[in-house]
Amino acid sequence: MRSILLMFGMLMVSNVAYSADVRVVAAWAAGPLEARVQFADPIADRAIFKKLVGTRIVFGDDVKAGDVYVERKADDPPLGENRGSLRIAAVKFSDDGKTLILATDPHSRDTKYAFKLPTEPPVNVSYSLRGVELTWDRGGENPKVEWSGWMDSMSPSTGIKLPTGAGRLTMKTLLTVPKRKVGITVETPGAVEVSLGNESAKGEKKVTVSADAEFDQMDLVITVALDGKPDVPITVRDANGKSLDPAKQTLAWAPPLPPTSPAVPVAPELIAGGDRAKGEMVFKSEAAKCVNCHKVRGVGGEVGPDLSNLVHRDRAWVYRNLTEPSATIHPDYVPYTVLIKDGRVLSGIVRAEGADKIKVLDTEAKATVVEKSDIEELKPSTTSIMPVGLTGAIGEASVRDLIAFLTTK
Ligand code: HEC
Repeated sequence: MRSILLMFGMLMVSNVAYSADVRVVAAWAAGPLEARVQFADPIADRAIFKKLVGTRIVFGDDVKAGDVYVERKADDPPLGENRGSLRIAAVKFSDDGKTLILATDPHSRDTKYAFKLPTEPPVNVSYSLRGVELTWDRGGENPKVEWSGWMDSMSPSTGIKLPTGAGRLTMKTLLTVPKRKVGITVETPGAVEVSLGNESAKGEKKVTVSADAEFDQMDLVITVALDGKPDVPITVRDANGKSLDPAKQTLAWAPPLPPTSPAVPVAPELIAGGDRAKGEMVFKSEAAKCVNCHKVRGVGGEVGPDLSNLVHRDRAWVYRNLTEPSATIHPDYVPYTVLIKDGRVLSGIVRAEGADKIKVLDTEAKATVVEKSDIEELKPSTTSIMPVGLTGAIGEASVRDLIAFLTTK
């Protein structure tokens, strides 16, 4: 191993933590279904990390290092709007013993994530979906990625260790840009290729690319040739000669923020009254299908959230979620479109199944298991898998009964 010095700018990584013999150098999400924790030294006692299987990573805009998932009762009041958790389904280590690899449910929000390592004492780990994805290959025809990693920005706070020998390093991020001409200059001793939005350029030592920003985000991909010497400096600057703001470098696959639509007032006669006992029958009926996907007070399916906590919600909120399932999507149940290599397209809630598989739960509450290696693309969708038109199918009186059942204990 040798170290590549990606110079320029010094930043502090927030997720550096120390414990007796585990020192965390970096933590990041290496794709929607994987979190990684990199240590300064190989970990001797790897067995303790198995305790992470089945535990959860918390996420939310106000999540910080040290936060952990707390088991809650089904009828406890709901957490804040953008808070949720994802399950760790499997753990393993990289061959050199320095990177812990966690197979997780999808990282469906561009927000902050936190959990604790089950070490003694426990080590806090937190990460966001900011940063730059790295891949390394030996170049030539059909280059094969032999190593992948992450750094906190195009001007990273620490050196990056790459495999030895000559090769190519590709650095990829999604830049948040002002809506006008954007310029990037990359300097390095060897050959370099830069692509920014739809523009790209190749050269030696120094390459500048400028592009018109149509949207507020643009892909930036930089590939540099490395001749195998240690400590190669690479500097990345904007048109003003400044380093790029780390807060504006997002992992390319990070899901965009979900659209928010203003809550429309609901006519009182649509939600008032209702018969709780009849509502329970509607909930379990073949016409409404609610029970196929939702639990209430212990009974029902698990495709959607447990609705026992709706006793803390107002009736208009419940009505809106029934009539417009996609207007606000529960952060733990973000729907995905899964493109499979054989051409199939699945839509549904995605859950990790062990290390190598996912389960996709669809609008019929049916589960399909897919090997991760068969996934072509995993894209968050803005359409809830909860069917629309359920309220129309059961009629206004049944909707009132259903709301009475859901909002009272
Ligand atoms: C095919 C499965 C499915 C069926 C059938 C279904 N839902 Fe849902 N429902 C979901 C999923 C998944 C979510 C979470 C995603 C979202 O917020 O849209 C959800 C969300 C909700 C929410 C919002 C909960 C929250 O805490 O954010 C309510 C309320 C709800 N459903 C009620 C019902 C009722 C009542 C019925 C029957 C008339 C029903 N659902 C039928 C899957 C389903």
